Amino acid sequence: MTLTLTVNGQDRALDLDPRTSLLDALRDHLDLTGTKKGCDHGQCGACTILVNGRRINSCLTLAVMHEGDDITTIEGLGTPEAMSPLQAAFVTHDGYQCGYCTPGQICSATAMLGEIEAGWPSHVSEDLLADPELTEAEISERMSGNICRCSAYPNIVDAIRQVGGSRDDAV
Ligand code: FES
Ligand code: FES
Repeated sequence: MTLTLTVNGQDRALDLDPRTSLLDALRDHLDLTGTKKGCDHGQCGACTILVNGRRINSCLTLAVMHEGDDITTIEGLGTPEAMSPLQAAFVTHDGYQCGYCTPGQICSATAMLGEIEAGWPSHVSEDLLADPELTEAEISERMSGNICRCSAYPNIVDAIRQVGGSRDDAV
């Protein structure tokens, strides 16, 4: 069936088997291979992208469910010549080793910082009504859906804290 997605600011027409996941539509039909397939089961976060500003696992949703949606992949956040603040911070803090999880980590962190700014509490927030602070515990909890097999976690947290303007020290 046919559908149109707005991907990284451009309307992209697709003719897909209705069973095609959004992840496969991006990688196999639009050649946007920055988004990675790790588990294909919603467990690793490698396929995280933004849909209408919210982070989702693109392996767990069908492309046909997103007619007209505004989709941002890692290619839409920045380029090697003009990196987003988080991309630059991942480089500065050495936040990756093999790099396979990195696009998902950065997409997830991009939306997560917006969630903090909007005041959304998490499972580890002590006061559900107060503005959450960007502590290591908050970042770890909020990024827990993104697995890194290289265990670059300390550096990923440092990169996120730098961009998010962490309110406690040790960045
Ligand atoms: S590939 Fe989607 S969560 Fe692992
Ligand atoms: S940098 Fe290798 S999986 Fe995260």
